Amino acid sequence: MQIEELSTVLEPKPLPNFVETEYIRGVTDRALAYIAAGFPVHFRGKSGTGKTTLAMHVAARIGRPVVIIHGDEEMSTSDMVGGQYGYRMRRVVDNFIHTVLKSEEDMKTSWVDNRLTTACKHGFTLIYDEFTRSRPEANNILLSILQEKMMGLPAARGKEGYLKVHPNFVAIFTSNPEEYAGVYRSPDALRDRMITMDIDYADRETEVSIVSAKSGWDARDAEKIVDIVRGLRDSDRCEFAPTVRACIIIAKTLKVMDAGVDGNSGVFRTVCTDVLSSVTSRAGNKSNADKVRKVVEELIDRYCLPVASIASELDSEGPEFGVKATEPVAPTKVKHRAAAVEYVACAA
Ligand SMILES: Nc1ncnc2c1ncn2[C@@H]1O[C@H](COP(=O)(O)OP(=O)(O)O)[C@@H](O)[C@H]1O
Ligand SMILES: [Mg+2]
Repeated sequence: MQIEELSTVLEPKPLPNFVETEYIRGVTDRALAYIAAGFPVHFRGKSGTGKTTLAMHVAARIGRPVVIIHGDEEMSTSDMVGGQYGYRMRRVVDNFIHTVLKSEEDMKTSWVDNRLTTACKHGFTLIYDEFTRSRPEANNILLSILQEKMMGLPAARGKEGYLKVHPNFVAIFTSNPEEYAGVYRSPDALRDRMITMDIDYADRETEVSIVSAKSGWDARDAEKIVDIVRGLRDSDRCEFAPTVRACIIIAKTLKVMDAGVDGNSGVFRTVCTDVLSSVTSRAGNKSNADKVRKVVEELIDRYCLPVASIASELDSEGPEFGVKATEPVAPTKVKHRAAAVEYVACAA
């Protein structure tokens, strides 16, 4: 039986705007140590905490080709392992008699390996992003791969009924917490076979560095945007807490609009309130949006007006939702290294 491979294999390359702070270096080094000891790692955390980026960074540090699977409700085991695919059309042109054009079609299928099989066979790094979005039955195939280093294969593939997993095979998983919509409980047996690292929102320094690297704003301006978003996140007034993604959206949009990070600018205020009321609510009801808008306005006053106006504001009653008065914030030193990854599709 002929076995073909259809998977896209990615080659990790350094990404110029990857930010590596103390915090990220710590998580990466621990993950690499678990992997070196032979255990798959699992980054678990809320949306926007940098799990996928971390997984790609760790994969780049491993340096082997990478395959990525995105968890999905519709995912079946055969989507990962492979299956019978194919519809062949043969055309025979008879050159001897010009007028004869013979065309044949047949429905013969042949086995095609899919991403998981390709990774196990060649010892590539598998990133299984948001794996708990797939139904638990679809993920059962992973149990023997992680535990016995054997992959059971359907008889339809021919050859042996199993594949010995290549010793260089590495698996990196990510998932959102179980309370998220569209997420299944991760099966205990699977969770027991991986090292789960809980990833929280990055610290302020890391978020400032990420926003600065991704948008081109200097650290002082990036800080103001990050402080507004972190203030809103901590206010507990939102249906969904805003993440560093919101900071990046605001920062990039302001660049496109050629507007400054300036509390006196109407454009700046509008972009902040637009973006933050959009990312923090699903239903989009008016009272919710008004609540968010009010908090955002107060945060802009706090972090983005000249010091004199902040002082007079603090002398009066202070922000209504109770952000504590702080010293004006010194600009953070941005430490980031051109380190991680850019993936370029290449043939398996
Ligand atoms: N270390 C980092 N360096 C640069 N950008 C980062 C870093 N970590 C996260 N980001 C950016 O932050 C955003 C959210 O990260 P992502 O990995 O998609 O989060 P998650 O997978 O947890 O939802 C993305 O735009 C990503 O590019
Ligand atoms: Mg992700």
